[in-house]
Amino acid sequence: MEKFKSIKLNRNSGEHLYTQLYNSIKQLIMDEDIKANEKLPPIRKLAELLSLNNITVVKAYSLLEEKNYVYKKIGSGTFVSSVEEEFHRLDDEAYEDMRLMDRGQIEVRENVINFASATPTPELFPVGDFKEVLNEVLDRDKGLAFGYQESKGYFPLRECIVEYLKIYKISTLVENIQIISGAQQGIDVISKALLRHGDTVIVESPTYTGAIATFESRGAKMLQVPVSKEGIDLNVLEGYIERYKPKLIYTMPNFQNPTGYSYSRRAKKELLDLAYRKGLIVIEDDYSTDLNFYTDENATLKSMDSNENVIYIKSFSKIFMPGLRLGFLVVPRSVNNEILMAKQASDISTSGLIQRAFDLYLRKGIWRRHISYMKKIYKERFDIMSQSLEEYLPEATIFVKPAGGINFWIGLVDGFSAKELYSQSINADIAFIPGGVFYPQEVDSNFLRLSIADVYPDDIKIGIQRLSQAITKYYQRNSIRSQKKSIYRPIL
Ligand SMILES: Cc1ncc(COP(=O)(O)O)c(C=O)c1O
Repeated sequence: MEKFKSIKLNRNSGEHLYTQLYNSIKQLIMDEDIKANEKLPPIRKLAELLSLNNITVVKAYSLLEEKNYVYKKIGSGTFVSSVEEEFHRLDDEAYEDMRLMDRGQIEVRENVINFASATPTPELFPVGDFKEVLNEVLDRDKGLAFGYQESKGYFPLRECIVEYLKIYKISTLVENIQIISGAQQGIDVISKALLRHGDTVIVESPTYTGAIATFESRGAKMLQVPVSKEGIDLNVLEGYIERYKPKLIYTMPNFQNPTGYSYSRRAKKELLDLAYRKGLIVIEDDYSTDLNFYTDENATLKSMDSNENVIYIKSFSKIFMPGLRLGFLVVPRSVNNEILMAKQASDISTSGLIQRAFDLYLRKGIWRRHISYMKKIYKERFDIMSQSLEEYLPEATIFVKPAGGINFWIGLVDGFSAKELYSQSINADIAFIPGGVFYPQEVDSNFLRLSIADVYPDDIKIGIQRLSQAITKYYQRNSIRSQKKSIYRPIL
């Protein structure tokens, strides 16, 4: 108790008392004034000693536990984690990053090589071309460009998209195109239209964080079906469909986020057959089919959907500009109306100005040149990334090279944690996304996602070298730790 008497809290500093208390106890642990496995004072006693509310102490202890500085023993109290556990402690920077990532954000600090975000670097955006089409629209349409647009979308743009879809071998009609303010809104609008609280949705495991957040917000139950480099596990999927009668299946058949895996043509076909037999809607979230570098097998599910079971979502964020907040859906006739009503209830319509400018951008054919340019840039980054991973990743670390897209899924040896690695790598100025974020429930995964969208070619090689060194160090430290651990034997 003596050591805790020295804790000084400033009630006028504006900083929460529990964070001040957390910092003070953390300091005592770091300075080894309180030693490994030593018990912290009971909550009530410490609260009395420092004239605090019990809740303040509870919150400080919880934060220390979350960051692995202490552990709780039920019925006995809170203890300082052992020195061997030191490597597991999340420093404050890593902890804050992790909290942000859970909310889909990352703070990019200066000098950090950012393999975490999947947003293209801004100099790649076709700003000059877009300025021209914007000016042309303003001269041509004047005030009309600033009125409400019809909820389904600006008619000439929808006509243009029907033509544009021919490159994906998708044949559809203008009335099936629904303009949306980005693919994220597409997922939300579909959920609003087709899900009720308590309904079941099947998602790939792992899956896109934005979809998890949307399905959660609608009160849907998510069932996870593993994806491998062949695609979704169709046996598990069929079993789940029979047992749980889901309303929707959410998929990314090409260059899946986060794994980069693509379904084989056979898997796509079988998924469609299954959806037809069971009368189910499959959402195809197409955010990067265009970035195909090494496969002939990147047909969209929608292009194979002869029975109208697929709602196709197209995002332009990776190939054009995420800030346009523009995308579209191709909707089966059976749900066309519900989707339109949900879109209307969400934001009435997507910006008319942006739709008109994008329509002109497509009509003038400028987009073809831009997509070729983006593919060239991404391919350079993609190749450097795969070569660097092949060259530098430590042995036994799993890496399946995708055939395109922007994401790489790396597996640490079983039993190691990508979250713990993050603490080490961020100290070496390398950011990535720990794989646990891509599951609906909180899990600590041994996988991590690296993206090439926000890194320059010169940084990729250095970044992967540094990351690989951090992984090696992490493996070594942990093998020392595991040697010291108890041995477990069966009790038979
Ligand atoms: C799979 C997937 N779907 C949807 C989105 C959101 O796209 P948009 O910016 O078009 O809303 C993203 C963004 O990264 C994504 O990765």
